[in-house]
Amino acid sequence: VHHLIKENSIASKFVSQLRDIDIQKDRLRFRKNMERLGEILAYEMSKHLDFENKIIETPLGKAKHFLPKDEIVICSILRAGLTLHQGILNYFDDADNSFISAYRHHPENDENFEILVEYLASPSLEGKTLILADPMLATGSSFINVLKALKTMGVPAKIYVLSVIGSRKGIENLEKVFPENSELWIASIDEDLDSRGYIVPGLGDAGDLCFG
Ligand code: PRP
Repeated sequence: VHHLIKENSIASKFVSQLRDIDIQKDRLRFRKNMERLGEILAYEMSKHLDFENKIIETPLGKAKHFLPKDEIVICSILRAGLTLHQGILNYFDDADNSFISAYRHHPENDENFEILVEYLASPSLEGKTLILADPMLATGSSFINVLKALKTMGVPAKIYVLSVIGSRKGIENLEKVFPENSELWIASIDEDLDSRGYIVPGLGDAGDLCFG
C-alpha cells in the first residue's frame, strides 16, 4: 500500500525546491526542506496510528483527547535519511531511534551495483511501530536490503516507510517484499529510472546535496 501526499499542498513547494538545480545549491535550504518534508510525512502518517482516549487535566477542568499509543522507533538510512529523520523526530519527539547504513557498491568498471549494509545501531523492534526513512526510493534495493537487515532486531507490529521522491518501478519492487501491516508514505512519484539506477527527473544525489 502506498499513500501520496496531496499535490496541492505546501509540500509541493518544498519538493520543487529540492529538485531545482539552482535552488538546490543552497545546502542549508536543501536540508531544511528535507526536514520540513519529514515533518509533513510524519504528520500525514500519524493519522494511521492507533489512538486511545486519554483524559487531560487542565487548570480549569478535564479535556478528552485521542493520543497515539504506538511505541515508535524511527530508523533512517545514512546518509541522506538524516535530514528526514530530524523532521520526523520533531513530531514524534519521544521516539526511540535507529541508524543504518546502505550504500551502492560499484565493482570496478561495472555499471551494476550491490547494496552493502555495514552499520546498524537499533533498539529491539519487536512489537514496535517502525518508521523507516530515506528521501530517495530509486530501485528500492536500499529499503529492501535494510528491511532484511533489520529482521535481526525483532518483528515490528507495523512499518511505515517514509520517502520524498520514488520511482514507479522502485515502489513496485518494494511493495513486492512488504511485510504485512506496512505502508509507504511518499511526497512525489517519478516515472523513470536511468541506466545507473537514478530517478529521472528526480533531483540528483540527495546525500551529496545534503552533506557534500
Ligand atoms: C541514495 C539514496 C537512497 C538510495 C536510493 O543513497 O539516498 O539511500 O540511493 O536508491 P535505491 O532505491 O536504488 O537503493 P546513496 O547510495 O547515494 O548514499 P548517500 O545517501 O550516503 O549519498
